[in-house]
Amino acid sequence: MTKVLVLGAAGKIARHAVSQFVDEEGLDLTLYLRRSERLRNLAGDRVEIVEGDVTDTDHLRQVVEGKDIVYANLGGDDIEDQARSVVAALEAAGVGRLIWISTLGIYDEVPGEFGKWNHQMLDGGYLEPYSAAAQVIEASKLDYTIVRPAWLTDVDEVEYELTQKGEPFKGTEVSRKSIADLVVKLSLDPTRYVRGSVGVNKPGTEGDKPSWY
Ligand SMILES: NC(=O)c1ccc[n+]([C@@H]2O[C@H](COP(=O)([O-])OP(=O)(O)OC[C@H]3O[C@@H](n4cnc5c(N)ncnc54)[C@H](OP(=O)(O)O)[C@@H]3O)[C@@H](O)[C@H]2O)c1
Repeated sequence: MTKVLVLGAAGKIARHAVSQFVDEEGLDLTLYLRRSERLRNLAGDRVEIVEGDVTDTDHLRQVVEGKDIVYANLGGDDIEDQARSVVAALEAAGVGRLIWISTLGIYDEVPGEFGKWNHQMLDGGYLEPYSAAAQVIEASKLDYTIVRPAWLTDVDEVEYELTQKGEPFKGTEVSRKSIADLVVKLSLDPTRYVRGSVGVNKPGTEGDKPSWY
């Protein structure tokens, strides 16, 4: 059994990923979240629910111990502190594989008019801490994959393409369901994109802004 730990398990992308994970044979899931009553209905033979805050490094280390893969679906102003705590917990527990959801724009990799618009929308409190968090992950010894989604939609579709770190970001939007699909695929084949950082977009969505703006 591969043991997968989901951090921030009530998050919107995480909920899609969890519903895909439970359909996979051979996976044990631990769902880590604040206010755990939100996911209590998912507890079962292969699904354990643990209440916790990822900034509680000691508690997180105990939960990480014995896991094979950690998928962090976190967010917020303190994302850099969250990254430090997650890295410390995994390194202390001797667990290497981390899938970390970040955002487009952390390397100033979004080209053209959309790149300028993205800065206008996300500078001043969002992109900076997300960039700093990614630097914390990349400075670690972990087998991380950083996932940089385009602007997220709740469209019920799985359609995406990837760009690598160092390449210009493509497209403007992508569905949360697509990001969840990528997370599950990365978990099922833990050798993919190790120590990599991938941009994720829906093909054909190039433009100056996401379609709903
Ligand atoms: N919106 C976009 O267009 C866009 C584009 C690219 C990337 N992103 C980023 O992608 C990430 C995932 O997206 P999403 O839609 O799944 O986000 P989400 O629904 O906001 O999920 C983030 C989760 O992080 C959890 N969290 C925050 N601090 C925590 C802590 N200290 N301990 C434990 N859990 C904590 C939150 O828990 P609670 O539920 O307890 O608050 C929340 O459930 C976010 O960081 C988002 O900013 C967004």
